[in-house]
Amino acid sequence: MSKKVNRRTFVKLTGAAGLVSATEMPSLGGSNTVPQGSSARSGDALRDFPRGFIWGTATASYQIEGAVKEDGRGPSIWDTFSHTPGKVVNNATGDVANDHYHLYKTDVQLMKALGVKAYRFSIAWPRVFPNGDGPPNPKGLDFYNRLVDELLANDIQPFATLYHWDLPQSLQDRFGGWEGRETAKAFADYAGYVTARLTDRVKHIFTINEFGAFIEVGYRWGIHAPGLKLTGLRLNQTRHHAVLGHGLAVQAIRASAKSGTRVGIAENITIPVPVVETPTHVAAAESAMREMNAQYLTVIMEGKYTDYYLKSAGADAPKFTPEELKTISSPLDFVGINVYTPQFVRADASSPVGYAQVPHPKSFPHAPSFWLFIAPDALYWGPRHVAKLWNAKEIYITENGCSASDEPAADGKVYDTDRVTYLRSYLTQLRRATAENVPVRGYFLWSLMDNFEWADGYTNRFGIHYVDYATQKRTPKLSADFYREVIARNAVV
Ligand code: NOJ
Repeated sequence: MSKKVNRRTFVKLTGAAGLVSATEMPSLGGSNTVPQGSSARSGDALRDFPRGFIWGTATASYQIEGAVKEDGRGPSIWDTFSHTPGKVVNNATGDVANDHYHLYKTDVQLMKALGVKAYRFSIAWPRVFPNGDGPPNPKGLDFYNRLVDELLANDIQPFATLYHWDLPQSLQDRFGGWEGRETAKAFADYAGYVTARLTDRVKHIFTINEFGAFIEVGYRWGIHAPGLKLTGLRLNQTRHHAVLGHGLAVQAIRASAKSGTRVGIAENITIPVPVVETPTHVAAAESAMREMNAQYLTVIMEGKYTDYYLKSAGADAPKFTPEELKTISSPLDFVGINVYTPQFVRADASSPVGYAQVPHPKSFPHAPSFWLFIAPDALYWGPRHVAKLWNAKEIYITENGCSASDEPAADGKVYDTDRVTYLRSYLTQLRRATAENVPVRGYFLWSLMDNFEWADGYTNRFGIHYVDYATQKRTPKLSADFYREVIARNAVV
């Protein structure tokens, strides 16, 4: 503290609350009476979001459902992987997870108490088709019928993801999973089957969640299921089959869904952030956006792989037909992006693509998840690039959030001030994007509650509700109080 700011002025500056200890701090409680568009500081329009902005939360099937052997569900690659010793921290599995399969009504009430207008969940393919293809298992889809009805009864719009990584094991065994074109075809059939039955009530469908994670981490680095380390042509062909599966699914959904169904994607784009916001670095970041996402979102939006990608891959470039590129780029109604971490870039005239990546210095702050570098402006640049480069008219932030080392305080509450600070900073940048008319229509906070964080097991908590896995008790963290206020005021608080 500088000499000029003594204790008295410090108290004045921070307000009395600045010195209240965590355990004395009152819960912010629900303030659903606050009118929408009314920011925390009255008259501070800089914090308001557009009217009708959709606030939501997100989860995924294998991370929360448990009940892996119930009602005819078949095994997925994540059952196999998590049951292989040494693959997941503490050899944790999703066998029980949050027991959401049985507690979904409780979880819908958590959402209701937050005031969210939408919920993004995923459908477990092996519940619906235990072998990935072949005969369906109607009991599997029944669970999602119950969930959707419960959400609608509580005025929460369901947004469903069809693939969030729990690939039926049988497809891995028979076709090498996404290595085989057959998996892309089976995915489309499953997508058509599900959407024919749910889209009387579910109006927003995401095909696939995060190519950039399940292919790269699962088929290339071997850290996620199925634990492969592919390289060269095999890897590029696997990437190609994944985007092809997306395109075939879009066509199948269009053919079988009820009218009014909107289809999109949820991709964890690499987000180039210009090191300094000058026109030259910004142009470099835009070029980087196309190139760094060449194998996934770029080919989906443009219907072609970039020249630079194909040239760099050389003989290992994927084999494809013009017809497949057309399928992959089937028009979407919206683009969803998962936003966590930045990739800084700078202009570089000596590079054929005009940019250079700037690695994170060792001291760059990050969350307990080693990959989650904290740079709020990623939530500005991500949607801005998507809107500017591809003229997207409807964008959703399908995930944003952070891991933290949450521990309940003596009063049982988790005061996750780090997560609140993270969310506030990121949302301020999202607000900057909407103020510039970047067409972001909604935001899904990851995650509604702590859950199975893949290879990290239950060690990295991302929830705004604390889950005691021994009792399955859910407790709102401070971040849940924060988010409730954001939603009620439709503004950053
Ligand atoms: C993205 C994934 O979609 C989700 O499953 C995961 O838990 C979060 N990132 C946090 O790592």
